[in-house]
Amino acid sequence: MTTLTSDDIRDRVQGDWQRIVTLLADKVACASVSAQGITGEHMKRSAGFVEQEFKALGIDAHVVQSHNPDGTPGAYEVVGSRIVDPAAPTVLLYAHHDVQPVPDAGDWDTDPFVAVEKDGRLYGRGSADDGGGIAIHSGALKALGDDLGVNIKIFIEGEEEMGSPSFIPFIEQHQDEFAADVIIVADSGNWSADVPSLTTSLRGNTTLDVSLRVLGHPVHSGQFGGPILDANTLAAMLISSMYDESGELVVPGITAEEPVGGLQRDLDEETLRNDAATVQGLRFAGTGSLASRLWTKPSLTVIGFDAHPVEGSFNVLADAATFRLSLRTAPSQRPEEAQRALAAFLTEHAPFGAQVTVTPLDNGMGWAMDPNAKAVKTAEEAMSEAFSTDVVNKGEGGSIPFIPELQRIFPEAQVLVTGPEDPKSNAHSPNESISLSGLRNNVITEALLLDRLANE
Ligand code: BES
Ligand code: MN
Repeated sequence: MTTLTSDDIRDRVQGDWQRIVTLLADKVACASVSAQGITGEHMKRSAGFVEQEFKALGIDAHVVQSHNPDGTPGAYEVVGSRIVDPAAPTVLLYAHHDVQPVPDAGDWDTDPFVAVEKDGRLYGRGSADDGGGIAIHSGALKALGDDLGVNIKIFIEGEEEMGSPSFIPFIEQHQDEFAADVIIVADSGNWSADVPSLTTSLRGNTTLDVSLRVLGHPVHSGQFGGPILDANTLAAMLISSMYDESGELVVPGITAEEPVGGLQRDLDEETLRNDAATVQGLRFAGTGSLASRLWTKPSLTVIGFDAHPVEGSFNVLADAATFRLSLRTAPSQRPEEAQRALAAFLTEHAPFGAQVTVTPLDNGMGWAMDPNAKAVKTAEEAMSEAFSTDVVNKGEGGSIPFIPELQRIFPEAQVLVTGPEDPKSNAHSPNESISLSGLRNNVITEALLLDRLANE
């Protein structure tokens, strides 16, 4: 079997470039926001679009609606395969076609669902997360064409941003369609648009709602304020009691880890400040390397807070407050265990005897790469060849909870987490974008990798 050179592949990707960018722009236009209903027509159309794109590449792609564990209809998934030689290795290519919501299009500089190219980046919701993953798989398959030497299976999911509730039953029912030697999950990203990375770990995630009650009903703040603190203030105290003075989370039973495989390079504070657009003078919380704080130590976020809006507020003591916590957990901690520890802390530390009720919500497990997997080395070689620079691996603070489930169902499979994002991608926020030079090198990387996997 011939091995293609990176120049051959670069030329082929160059020749296909307009198609790849158009695919991505059309994907942005699908506006496949899963939070608006995973069973909606918009999600079905998005899955149909993806199906057609992969069919055109010789993959026998089709849309299948999954089912939730309770039997209700689930997401529109795209699955398919192209078997070139039963004796050749099989690679499963994963991405997701659903995207994050756009709560306020006014926060964007351009229409979120119309792809716009500016300064080497393509802007639009889902341009990176995870339209970019679909574009990488598509570009790599097209570049290899009839030279494809591995069997391909694809799974383009329709509900990743919703925590993949129907994923497990779906996988378990379609084991044959997913069984693979190598699984490439293109839903993460690189160190930067110019420096490639494999993702060495992902954090887990657990969410819960906390309700805090002080009074049977709201009362006059002048008449009762003083001995009685309002529910919002007590909620703030409860939240702050989970941190020490350095801003480190100090809830017993929630564990922390160090970067998986050792820290190759710490993040640069200035870059991080720029990428997150921190205000002047903001001090960072916690201790240890920035990398450990972002990737492998736990972090807690108040993602929702029900309180009286400022507009129309008047002088009463709030009787109750509710907030939602999202805890990113260390890669190896069971999220259920962290959730129990968090719930216990919250109920045991109710300030001033307020009534605290905790409602546990979703759990997703983190993941750590096996640095000794053979495919890891092959992937790193393909990356440094395509990007013409050394690989700098990184962890990720985000979560892709189905990866450990896949690993559990297919224990022999080697999982590679790659992806289209870079720190400027603004995934989940306004003005999401993908670097086009980064995308091109990602496509070249994946084509090279598939070619090398066929020959080893
Ligand atoms: N692509 C992200 C995960 C990610 C984020 C990887 C940043 C690398 C860098 C994925 O689509 C995502 O957002 N996942 C959710 C999962 C949640 C619903 C359990 C997340 O992390 O919030
Ligand atoms: Mn994603």
